[in-house]
Amino acid sequence: MATSYLRARAALRPLLRNKSPRFSLRTSPNRRPNSTSTSAPSSAPPPPPLPPTSEPAAGFSRAKAITVGTALSLTAYALYYYATDTRASFHKFIVPPALRLLFPDAEDAHHFGTHALKTLYQFGLHPRERVLDVDASGNKPLAVTVFGTELSNPIGISAGLDKDADIPDQLFALGAGVVEVGGCTPFPQEGNPKPRVFRVPGTDGLINRYGLNSKGADAMAQRLGERLRDFARSIGMTEREVMDEGIEGVPTGSLQPGRLLCVQVAKNKKTDEKDVEAVKRDYVYCVKRLAPYADVLVVNVSSPNTPGLRDLQAAGPLTALLGAVVEEAQKTRRKTKPRVMVKVSPDEDDDTQMEGVVQAVWNSGVDGVIVGNTTKRRTGLVPEGVRLTAQEQKNIMEEGGYSGPALFDQTLKLVGRYRKMLDSHSLKIEGVGSGFSSQKVIFATGGITNGEQALKVLNAGASVAMVYTGMVYGGSGTVTRIKNEMRQKLAIEGKKKDA
Ligand SMILES: Cc1cc2nc3c(=O)[nH]c(=O)nc-3n(C[C@H](O)[C@H](O)[C@H](O)COP(=O)(O)O)c2cc1C
Repeated sequence: MATSYLRARAALRPLLRNKSPRFSLRTSPNRRPNSTSTSAPSSAPPPPPLPPTSEPAAGFSRAKAITVGTALSLTAYALYYYATDTRASFHKFIVPPALRLLFPDAEDAHHFGTHALKTLYQFGLHPRERVLDVDASGNKPLAVTVFGTELSNPIGISAGLDKDADIPDQLFALGAGVVEVGGCTPFPQEGNPKPRVFRVPGTDGLINRYGLNSKGADAMAQRLGERLRDFARSIGMTEREVMDEGIEGVPTGSLQPGRLLCVQVAKNKKTDEKDVEAVKRDYVYCVKRLAPYADVLVVNVSSPNTPGLRDLQAAGPLTALLGAVVEEAQKTRRKTKPRVMVKVSPDEDDDTQMEGVVQAVWNSGVDGVIVGNTTKRRTGLVPEGVRLTAQEQKNIMEEGGYSGPALFDQTLKLVGRYRKMLDSHSLKIEGVGSGFSSQKVIFATGGITNGEQALKVLNAGASVAMVYTGMVYGGSGTVTRIKNEMRQKLAIEGKKKDA
């Protein structure tokens, strides 16, 4: 046994001797003998010179490390670039279904989405639009002028997605020309008991009865004030200077060139809608607190989930309410005063009701109308051939306002009708020389999910097409996709005209 062991060692000796230099090569070609070693006497002979094979091997391993490092960095960058680009199909095909799976309650998914956008933004990892609204030749095919500001594009994100103005910049980054935050009530209120948001994926629709849950006007003013102060500091000015002097080409609300920030205001649930003075006080309080940060103030009289709110659309109370809001908005200590719009329901659609709104708009000096909101109707929501699951059938009958593609036809019709009514009224008023601006602005909301629909409402007389539910099902690339579809359609139509 001992002999065979010795014989084996003798046979392995050359290999064992070679092992040590090879190892030392890998660690460092210039490696010095260990000075703390006590095992070798100081007079020990110097180590044998390193074999010549050491240099190429070291070079190889360094090259390998650099290659692997570069490959990893490139992969990480490609992943970052892909995941933060609104064109990435993963934003449409992975994120929304995953959220539905992970969060059976649609409200939880909403909160998660808001929180995720906020956190990702802090680390520069949020989704953003990388296609510019200006093309290589400097043309802006989608530009539209609204309230004297040239918007880079006419797509807006509708109220309710960012109820408390937590993520306006994150929403602008998705490519929207207009972002509407709110609805905000003067004092904080909880809204209705949960669950209060229900999905109907079979129709790409939602039912919500949030009931204007809001952290209140003071909290929103604080957040928007901080945002303005951060902006002012970043350009070496004070908040007051930005408000008093303005920045050429940058609206004071959005703080971004070519974009507008709308802030939506509403009354508290407990304020009696029949007490017009109390209602006015609610809205005026919101205006006092929020007007300094808004390009446009939106008066919400159309949410279906606050009892009696829609009654405020009648000509009498609406004129009084809008008049009070316009008056207060004019007092805003700022170079450019915020404009005022009113958001009206798609359900109050007979001529008399609409004529009442139009009269109130002209008589109060409001600048425009947001046409549409969720509907209380439950007919015609399911396209032919679509079969809903038992859960969806239950959800679609939940109390609240329905939103989704089924609203589109009504939105389009109402935009056309409001356009006509508002314009014909303007002719009458101009005839008596009132000095009002000649055309009221319309924004459209309700069932808009693609470029073709956006173009249709714009051609019917709206200046901005707004989306909400389309983003819930289509993900954070929805605005980019809609704009892309619009550009393609416009290019095709342009070619046809040239031919
Ligand atoms: C969950 C949810 C919350 C909403 N909250 C508000 C709101 O606070 N104020 C408001 O005016 N509209 C609100 N809306 C209505 C939307 O702004 C939009 O007008 C409506 O959903 C129709 O557009 P859509 O079909 O693109 O969703 C809400 C809609 C949804 C789905």
